[in-house]
Amino acid sequence: MQPIRFVTATLATAATAALLLPLGAAPAAADRHHGPDGRHTPPHSNAKFDRLRWAAPEDFVIGTAVAGGGHHLEQDYPDPFTSDGRYRRVLAQQFSSVSPENQMKWEYLHPERDRYDFAMADRIVDFAERNGQVVRGHTLLWHSQNPAWLEEGDFTDAELREILRDHITTVVGRYSGRIHQWDVTNEIFDEAGNLRTEDNIWLRELGPGVIADAFRWAHEADPHAELFLNDYGVEEVNAKSDAYYELSQQLLADGVPLHGFSTQAHLSLNYPFPAGLEENLRRFDDLGLATAVTEMDVRMNVPENGRPTAAQLREQADYYRQGLAACLAVEGCDSFTIWGFTDKYSWVPVFFEGEGSATVMTDDYTRKPAYHALWSTLKRAEYDRG
Ligand code: G3I
Repeated sequence: MQPIRFVTATLATAATAALLLPLGAAPAAADRHHGPDGRHTPPHSNAKFDRLRWAAPEDFVIGTAVAGGGHHLEQDYPDPFTSDGRYRRVLAQQFSSVSPENQMKWEYLHPERDRYDFAMADRIVDFAERNGQVVRGHTLLWHSQNPAWLEEGDFTDAELREILRDHITTVVGRYSGRIHQWDVTNEIFDEAGNLRTEDNIWLRELGPGVIADAFRWAHEADPHAELFLNDYGVEEVNAKSDAYYELSQQLLADGVPLHGFSTQAHLSLNYPFPAGLEENLRRFDDLGLATAVTEMDVRMNVPENGRPTAAQLREQADYYRQGLAACLAVEGCDSFTIWGFTDKYSWVPVFFEGEGSATVMTDDYTRKPAYHALWSTLKRAEYDRG
């Protein structure tokens, strides 16, 4: 086991105990104060040390998606963010950055051509401000979760362009000064590195030049927000991330206000950890861009009894640790977000039959080894950075 240099006497507490337990240690019996791995998990601790956001280095934000909309609407529970008090408490205590999971997507913000609905998004941004959190805005230009009036409408190119300009100007303008980073574009390339010119209405109808326009409009509406290209499957150096690398160079050469490149990191134990993550983030960092991990989760095949094995939980923890460590190792990667923190509300079992347990806490908010892996990786980085 690594020596734990940063632990002082005053921290000889639950969190220290978590750190001192090697990943391979035999699990103690689970009870109210111990997770399935035997680690101490005080359910209602108010102690500062007991929080991911406290463990993080200064100027590094640790984030989560805020559950609501999307797949949640099909489940037999009420809206998590507005109805689950415990959820809100953990959200406030543990995280320093929040990303609306669905509530800032077109179908929620812009339900009719001439009507915006900011109710849910406003509540999230207000919550974040009350709790000293930054917000990642998600997302302005995407092929998915667009309202029917838009996808099925009959618009001229000039009208479509004006619709997009108005949306970006209105939405980014409304939250000007209150959003840390915007995913201006989301998932604009396919796996082969080709622009999605068929299923993305903007690219199909208006051509690739609309990407630069979107960044310019967003920057005009909020000159302080960091503007990102965001996608999945771009953790490694591959055809898709190469396409982003070329696009980034082009946009920067053209003076477009592009500030960052981010990778979602929806990972699975069925595939190896993307070992090239750090190298890939670093090449974008070398272009002068900020980088971020924006949606990390690690799914697995759930055994028939519904409980992941200790070995699966250990492996999952190691993926989370590596993902976070890769970001921490790159100077301009100062934002790391997980796509939900409790399995209770994860999108994974809804999309991947037989898979689940992808987040860092169980349905009842018991911390998994993955939670402790994040905590100790943050704490170590905080200590190393002095
Ligand atoms: O399209 C149907 C609509 O016709 C129907 O009326 C409605 C009724 O509930 O369901 C609609 O589809 C849902 C969709 O959200 C739109 O709200 C899907 O069933 C639902 O599964 C979907 O879930 C969201 C998903 O994005 C959509 O792509 C998830 O909640 C959300 O977690 C997920 O988040 C994405 C990120 O934005 C981008 N990166 C990947 C990540 C995970 O897929």
